[in-house]
Amino acid sequence: MKKLAIMGAMVEEIEPLLEYFENVKLTEYANNKYYEVNYKGLDIVIAYSKIGKVFASLTASTMIEKFGCDTLLFSGVAGAINPKLKIGDMIVANKLCQHDLDITAFGHPHGYVPEGSVFVESSKELREVAKAVAKEMGIEVIEGTIATGDQFVHSSEKKDFIEKTFQADALEMEGASVAVVCNALNVPFFILRAISDSADMDAGFDFDEFLKSSAKISADYLIKIVDKL
Ligand code: ADE
Repeated sequence: MKKLAIMGAMVEEIEPLLEYFENVKLTEYANNKYYEVNYKGLDIVIAYSKIGKVFASLTASTMIEKFGCDTLLFSGVAGAINPKLKIGDMIVANKLCQHDLDITAFGHPHGYVPEGSVFVESSKELREVAKAVAKEMGIEVIEGTIATGDQFVHSSEKKDFIEKTFQADALEMEGASVAVVCNALNVPFFILRAISDSADMDAGFDFDEFLKSSAKISADYLIKIVDKL
């Protein structure tokens, strides 16, 4: 690996990461801020994209195409679907899909467009590193499917639809778009999320309450993974 990209969606998701780094060089590009550091001999670019699939795609593409990153790690929070996932628990995506991509009118399955695929798989190698780190730390991290869409989900109906349609374990608003970009550009990627809410009627309240603490849980574990790369 020559250069590592670390991404979040919201400022709260990258603030706990930036605390680990010194001598950060700031570059402003395409209405966003990119933080470049050398950490233990590794060149890293850090950025938050802003919320949603479009901003996340732009940031992931920029980190790869402009900054030359050849591996991408994402850290942030998610809403739980799998009842095993409680607030503060972590999930590593083994595959991701777009739950709001819908051309079923033309007979295609949910999440599919011609020449694409419903699911994009993340890097097995990076997941193996994460597993080894979790074992070393004595923590449990669930591996599962993450569904992404441009909606903050806060209803049981929507959550049930995503669960039934994609067998997803958690949902958020950026992961699958980052996955599509990385897959197209041949860049191994890893999506980590700590649960901030359960995507139900309390989700808005829980998200506000747990965004910072769950973002920190995700960031702290991500740094332990970076230490092994
Ligand atoms: N990220 C964290 N919680 C979420 C939710 N309920 N819906 C979409 N993205 C989220």
